Amino acid sequence: MNVVRSNRPKVCVIKHSEIIVIGSGIAGMFAALRLAPRKVTLLTKTPSLTGGSTAWAQGGIAAAVGLTDSPQDHASDTILAGAGLNVSSAVEVLTSEGADRLNELISMGAPFDRDDKGKIILGREAAHGQRRIVHAGGDSTGHHVHKWLSELVVNTPSIEVKESAFAWELVVDRNHICGVLIYQHKEGWVFHQAPFVVIATGGSGQLFSATTNPSEATADGLAMAIRAGLKVADLEFVQFHPTALSMSRTSKDSPMPLITEALRGEGATLLDSKGHRFMKDLHSEAELAPRDIVARAIWERLIDGDRIYLDIRDVLSRNLDNRFPTVQSICAEAGIDPKIEMIPVAPAAHYHMGGIAADESGRTSLQGLWVCGEAASTGAHGANRLASNSLLEGLVFGHRVAEDILQKKAYSKNNSEVCVPIIPELNEKITAENLTKGLRKLMYEKVGLRRNASDLESAIASHQKLAKKIGAFETRISNRSPTFIQVREWGELRNLALVGHLVAVASLKRCESRGAHYRTDFPNLDPGLAIRKYFTYEDINSNSEGTSFDETKRKSKNAISN
Ligand code: FAD
Ligand code: SIN
Repeated sequence: MNVVRSNRPKVCVIKHSEIIVIGSGIAGMFAALRLAPRKVTLLTKTPSLTGGSTAWAQGGIAAAVGLTDSPQDHASDTILAGAGLNVSSAVEVLTSEGADRLNELISMGAPFDRDDKGKIILGREAAHGQRRIVHAGGDSTGHHVHKWLSELVVNTPSIEVKESAFAWELVVDRNHICGVLIYQHKEGWVFHQAPFVVIATGGSGQLFSATTNPSEATADGLAMAIRAGLKVADLEFVQFHPTALSMSRTSKDSPMPLITEALRGEGATLLDSKGHRFMKDLHSEAELAPRDIVARAIWERLIDGDRIYLDIRDVLSRNLDNRFPTVQSICAEAGIDPKIEMIPVAPAAHYHMGGIAADESGRTSLQGLWVCGEAASTGAHGANRLASNSLLEGLVFGHRVAEDILQKKAYSKNNSEVCVPIIPELNEKITAENLTKGLRKLMYEKVGLRRNASDLESAIASHQKLAKKIGAFETRISNRSPTFIQVREWGELRNLALVGHLVAVASLKRCESRGAHYRTDFPNLDPGLAIRKYFTYEDINSNSEGTSFDETKRKSKNAISN
């Protein structure tokens, strides 16, 4: 049993579920819908279903649904962006089943944008060889798709939704999941037992002080999996989006509003402060080069003291007003009129290619536990995700996880008990919020877009100090009952601290530059390192190199079993 550590009070409330899905983004909701009529408990830590990145998505969903397109072409673009690290079977699943899933959504009535003749409109984004991005409400795709899925979820009687429910820890017994320890707003600590658990907790963007991600993106599922001893993969690969608005944040810690890549797909250009279109000098696709290349080019100019602007005036003058309402309202809030002014932009952490290692059915290395969406690392994205492939990933792998679970028989229920963790009482100076702020700043400065050994080593030393501090706080006995927000803030801090540390460790171990991972001390790609790296908690603590698995080894060694 992994969470019984002392003679602290045992959790008194025990509930049973057939299947628990943690996360109400596109991956979790789609998996839950596909699991009907089996009974599903769908958890989210936010007070409504809208938490997570899905509702914030702008550009759209990529899939080979156009007449001139094919899954093979979509796969080639995905692999080209992935810089030699994609798992080809996962790419094949994503791109071939992607079109099927999207066509199903269209026939179910998903609200995608259509032209005057009723045909679905296809947009273009960076590194896509052709137009294949389906969108809704122009650049409000996430909002519309999420709302549509949420309505289906709340109208499905077999899905029980639990909001304000923070998943704290996976409960494991002899390589089998037994359930999840949860803190619920009204009930407090609850041990939710279930033979099948799906992690769909999204990404890790909150690791960095500059991010496009909402406050929920705190790597909770990934951290729980690491503590439970699961294999995790490719943690060093964090994608920075090139164009986030570089002004008008309510505070330095709030997310940076995204200025969608779809604008560059329609011809928007990037200019330096002299008005020079610098991307033309750097790549044949100019502004539509892979994301990591554009993001780094902007970053390098910014640290040299320049300012970089996205010019969308021409795009808006071509009667595309209804296509970009979100960006227009972001600009209006920042006091910019994008029809006559240029938009100052900077890169921001956006998507984690690394995550819980999973096979093409979302199976993890723990029996009874599946993962889908951004929390997973199937290898479909390689070292750099192609734009608009992640909403698609949520649909394709959410569906596959459900199909796989539907074929399994539940094993007998476990009656174990778990202990209540200590949520420390902090003082005014040392708060979870302040510790998290320090960590995020450190990650951005030392483990961000450009990395080197000395920065990474100093980040790792700081992480180790933070881990000690967190550990020391957790031994202080407290008599008070924590509030939901205290549990969530402390839980998110310990998750970010653990995952941040591992991102730095994995970055230090990869001595080359590939896709989103760039080392100034190893600026070239090393063809010998086209290998995904898997780690477990034990590897990290024993300072081991992790395990390298190429695709053949992965299959033959059956790294993922369920
Ligand atoms: P999320 O949608 O992030 O959902 C995670 C869920 O898990 C939430 O419900 C959260 O509350 C819950 N959760 C997390 N931790 C816990 C916990 N401990 N306990 C209980 N619940 C928990 N991708 C595209 O393909 N196309 C786009 O156009 C696009 N645009 C984007 C724009 C922005 C601004 C951002 C931030 C991302 C964008 N992405 C886009 C990426 C994409 O939105 C995400 O990768 C995707 O939505 C992730 O979906 P998910 O279901 O895995 O997780
Ligand atoms: C965007 O609209 O630029 C984001 C698309 C994505 O991250 O896939």
